[in-house]
Amino acid sequence: MTGPRYTPLALSLPATVPFVGPETQERARGQGFAARLGANENIFGPSPKAVEAMAKAAAEIWKYGDAENIDLRHALAAHHGVSPAHIIVGEGIDGLLGYLVRLLVGAGDAVVTSLGAYPTFNYHVAGFGGVIHTVPYRDDREDYEALFARAAEADAKIVYLANPDNPMGSWHKGAGIAAALDQLPAGCLLLLDEAYVECAPEGTAAPVSADDARVIRMRTFSKAYAMAGARVGYAIGHPDLIAAFNKVRNHFGMNRAAQVGALAALQDQDWLDQVLAQIGAARLRIAEIAAENGLAALPSATNFVAIDCGRDGVFAKAVLDGLVDQGIFVRMPFAGPQNRCIRVSCGPEAELSAFAAALPEALTRALAAARAG
Ligand SMILES: Cc1ncc(COP(=O)(O)O)c(C=O)c1O
Repeated sequence: MTGPRYTPLALSLPATVPFVGPETQERARGQGFAARLGANENIFGPSPKAVEAMAKAAAEIWKYGDAENIDLRHALAAHHGVSPAHIIVGEGIDGLLGYLVRLLVGAGDAVVTSLGAYPTFNYHVAGFGGVIHTVPYRDDREDYEALFARAAEADAKIVYLANPDNPMGSWHKGAGIAAALDQLPAGCLLLLDEAYVECAPEGTAAPVSADDARVIRMRTFSKAYAMAGARVGYAIGHPDLIAAFNKVRNHFGMNRAAQVGALAALQDQDWLDQVLAQIGAARLRIAEIAAENGLAALPSATNFVAIDCGRDGVFAKAVLDGLVDQGIFVRMPFAGPQNRCIRVSCGPEAELSAFAAALPEALTRALAAARAG
């Protein structure tokens, strides 16, 4: 046999990706989407100061970025009241998830997550030969007490918990999570994914010390700060764990323009505040559109809203297909019973109006298909 000799692990992996991107779907459709409401991007856009900083940095793009991300780490440390040694910056939360899993998960090691939770964590675990144990959602929320109990049974090295959660938009009070940490088994790390926490009510971020070695928190500039394409995320954790990232990370992985863009975005909290207000208004508008069509929107602490289509996953998928057919990009949860919902990102009125215009026809078609089937 010729060709590269893959590891047995690589040979065993399915050739799948966690998400099929909207561009891939557009190529398959042969035309663009009229409204891009499926990837929880922030359509309200980044701070103009961030855009200006990135434009200025373009002329210096011949230089690699600062491998230590010093300016951004110092600014983030000041923002969170911790030291730069508590912060690692990486290529989005997705990139940091890969590094963390590489540090902690070897072949056969157990991790615990919720059935149908954010899948990129699972993708990395599979890539390093880990074993994924799942716990169902309870009342459309991730069930951290059950996750911790499962971790004890499975001798898990990591528990993944997103608060607020994607895909449901649900959330827990941070104080509850912090209080439950005593139930986390020894030697198990809580990976608290707070990608959407800026969009959530006060008190959602868990009041956990950055020196608490049981927890690592992950944040991103992709959501509230509207910089998904820049790929900037960071983690806050115990300095020993943070330092360990240096053993495996791509030291020159950060884009130089993205580094200064994120710094400018962080320094423009006024922009963040007005974007958060627009997200709040868009959540209400999406709920209104759902109600006009006889559907219920779930409460959301994120920049998207899950709409309960009132039946099973097959029906919700038919609704989703009907929307995509009409040029409206949305997504839906992967696992039941949460897959009775479709998931719609917040955005300006033009995009939401396009969604409102397409939803009745999508529902009519899905009902007809249900009757025929
Ligand atoms: C829960 C959650 N974590 C992480 C991410 C990815 O974040 P990043 O763009 O920083 O990789 C997403 C994106 O949708 C998400 O929903």
